[in-house]
Amino acid sequence: MKIRFLGHASFLIEINNKKVLIDPFIKGNPLAASIDINTIDADYVLLTHGHGDHVADAEEICKRTGATIISNFEVCNWFQDKGLSCHALNHGGKFKFDFATIKYVMATHTSSMPDGSYGGNPGGFVIWTETECLYIAGDTGLTMDMKLIPMLCPKLSAAILPVGDNFTMGIEEAVMAAEFVECDKIIPCHFDTMPQIKVDKDKVIQAFKEKGKECLFIEIGDTLEV
Ligand code: NI
Ligand code: MN
Repeated sequence: MKIRFLGHASFLIEINNKKVLIDPFIKGNPLAASIDINTIDADYVLLTHGHGDHVADAEEICKRTGATIISNFEVCNWFQDKGLSCHALNHGGKFKFDFATIKYVMATHTSSMPDGSYGGNPGGFVIWTETECLYIAGDTGLTMDMKLIPMLCPKLSAAILPVGDNFTMGIEEAVMAAEFVECDKIIPCHFDTMPQIKVDKDKVIQAFKEKGKECLFIEIGDTLEV
């Protein structure tokens, strides 16, 4: 899997020759000014929940690329009404797509759409192929449900976890989350975009290191292979 960071909680992941865009929020993010959304190619767009800092650019990118949205039932309904193609999942459900199996898992957070309408319950995704497995926690605090992930899914190759605190878990909880999901390679997200979620990257790296875990910050626009 090739994982390109597009800022905030947005990633473009290449899996089995498909391009999978996660939580696109690029045009509204000054830190991601170097990313031109017209250059983003996507086959699927995965949305963890309905908040604007996760769905803002989904409609425009899907209309241009014809990508299919994968999210919860309510987020999918909202985008279906805009004429987009969607595949709805709900918590505990998984589906074998043409490029990977995707399971929608619990997150403890809230979810409303940019117009205030109901966005269902927020979630995360576990995405796996024959050889790799990636956990995308979405916006969440630490939850005991994370312990179910290693019981229900293949061994994780990497986990994308929020670390910015304030709206999601902070460093201490993210380190515990890495232990709960039994993953040693962590890609942080949901930090630095706003003043409330600024982090000291060295502190984050050190906190994971103390528990024997590798924390890999990806620069916006850069790609990491896992
Ligand atoms: Ni959120
Ligand atoms: Mn968010």
